[in-house]
Amino acid sequence: MTTVDLTPMGDQLVDPVDLPWVPQAEGVWFKPLRLSPVSGTWTNLLKVTRRGVISRHRHPFPVEAWVLQGSWRYLEHDWTAGPGSYVYEPAGDVHTLVTEGEDEMVTLFSMHGRIDYLNDAGEVTFIETAQTKLDKYLDYCARHRLAPLPVVA
Ligand SMILES: [Fe+2]
Repeated sequence: MTTVDLTPMGDQLVDPVDLPWVPQAEGVWFKPLRLSPVSGTWTNLLKVTRRGVISRHRHPFPVEAWVLQGSWRYLEHDWTAGPGSYVYEPAGDVHTLVTEGEDEMVTLFSMHGRIDYLNDAGEVTFIETAQTKLDKYLDYCARHRLAPLPVVA
């Protein structure tokens, strides 16, 4: 088996057009702009094409988001983010993502650490990390015969 070094030698420009939309859940995709399994941080574009409740989750670490398209909110908060909005999610926040409006949602999320996905009982059903994102990306590339881009930093 050939091992591919996905680590950029230094600074790196990534053109999202060159990255596939990797399926994440029903109606949810991501493009991995930067994945750092060592630090546990990552930055990705998230696209959601369905409306309504997408997921309930907890952030043990902060999150920063910049909305590019569409609008979304959290059931637990009284604001709605739209194109151009910047959102900061502090460590410990637990919230339920809901998409609204006509346009599909595209948002850049920069994660400072793992996400705990929760069921209605508040139990953890899945833990997303930079490594699980990388695994999804590499698996998608392998199944579609795509050469992975060097997005690990
Ligand atoms: Fe969140």
